[in-house]
Amino acid sequence: MNLDSSVNEIIVMETVPIRFGPGAVEEIGYELQRRRLLHVALVTDPHLRRIGLVDRMETSIRETGVTVEVFDQVRAEPTDRSVEAALEWQQGRAIEGYVAFGGGSSIDTAKAMNLYGTYPAPLLEYVNKPVGNGRPVPGPLKPLVAVPTTAGTGSESTSVLILDMVDLHLKTGVSHPYIRPSVGIVDPLLTFTMPPVVTASCGLDVLCHALESYVSLSYDARPRPASPAERPPYIGANPIADLFSVRAVALTGAFLRRAYFNPYDREARTQMMLAATLAGFGFGNAGVHIPHAMGYPVAGMVRDFRAAGYPDVSRPQVPHGMSCIVNAPAAFRYTLPAQPERHAHAARLLGADDIPTALIRLMQDLDMPNGLQALGYTEDDIPALTVGAMKQQRLLVNAPRPVTETDMRRIFQDAMRYW
Ligand SMILES: NC(=O)c1ccc[n+]([C@@H]2O[C@H](COP(=O)([O-])OP(=O)(O)OC[C@H]3O[C@@H](n4cnc5c(N)ncnc54)[C@H](O)[C@@H]3O)[C@@H](O)[C@H]2O)c1
Repeated sequence: MNLDSSVNEIIVMETVPIRFGPGAVEEIGYELQRRRLLHVALVTDPHLRRIGLVDRMETSIRETGVTVEVFDQVRAEPTDRSVEAALEWQQGRAIEGYVAFGGGSSIDTAKAMNLYGTYPAPLLEYVNKPVGNGRPVPGPLKPLVAVPTTAGTGSESTSVLILDMVDLHLKTGVSHPYIRPSVGIVDPLLTFTMPPVVTASCGLDVLCHALESYVSLSYDARPRPASPAERPPYIGANPIADLFSVRAVALTGAFLRRAYFNPYDREARTQMMLAATLAGFGFGNAGVHIPHAMGYPVAGMVRDFRAAGYPDVSRPQVPHGMSCIVNAPAAFRYTLPAQPERHAHAARLLGADDIPTALIRLMQDLDMPNGLQALGYTEDDIPALTVGAMKQQRLLVNAPRPVTETDMRRIFQDAMRYW
């Protein structure tokens, strides 16, 4: 054997079993019964309750003989406070497992309920450093069946949960392999009711996941960890994750516009759901970097912005996918020199010569904001946005090109306006 002990040459591909396809949700009873679950918490949000999706879900769980208690107060883009409220709700309830039903917000809230319900601790205890203490999750959690209703986050297969820390004005989260759900039931028919702005924002999140993963710092361009337990969940671009990321880019390029303009286009919805799942597999192992690291303060520092047509406009909010895509053309301009062939390949899959051109065309077609200025940010905000993004070192170490504070300031500057 001739091992260079200083370089990581090992790929770890961890993921979740997936039941995928139109009607897959009808098989949820089987997934609960095979896990011997008799009493579960159904975790979801008020909008899905209002439009009747939750009632249907609740009925099909009850029909299998499983009793269910419903927590339907998930906040879109969960915060430390909304998660505290969910933890309070579950106190004293004999919950054996969880069904997360909704977008990334419902799935992440259920992940947090599972973690803090199983191993109680102050919220910051497991939150990633430097914001929290970064304590590793002590052991396995209860069964969690994740049923996404957006073609977006891929949270049904990832080992992270994301929280908006309200007073700190930034988003961060907890990441550990034990956080992965037990199974994902991915049914594209659940996404027909997504309003266009949700379709667009979630679909562009998928595209960011796939593109960022594909051009991330390669798994074998990093030091070998001292032990397997110290290998981070995000290991960088690698030949296994690449398969998923490349396919997700192509599918999004081919079907996102169709899903946006024709909500009941079954093929487009199915292919976008597949893209979301594949991108989740890819980035759940390879990882994301600059656009997402910038997206967290862009969402966390919001002042007055409300996305037209978004289901909950009771408060200012930048939906997650939107908060990432507004940075993406500028970020990929910056990363291009580090991985020119991969950038060119991804651009070709999107039918353009370079990634920023492809993304700007998509943003225009999907009525996305024209850069940060359209979200209400000015150049005076760049220093604070930069501080927020530089805190996301967990993600920035994954960028193919190192990013200093000065670089980050320039990328934010470049992201102010695109057309
Ligand atoms: N854990 C992860 O791996 C991961 C990855 C990416 C993003 N996230 C997080 O996920 C959250 C965003 O999740 P999201 O983008 O899926 O959206 P979401 O869960 O916040 O939902 C957005 C809005 O769309 C509505 N909605 C969802 N599905 C619908 C449907 N089928 N029909 C009608 N309305 C529907 C919701 O009620 C909500 O009002 C953010 O907090 C983000 O940080 C997590």
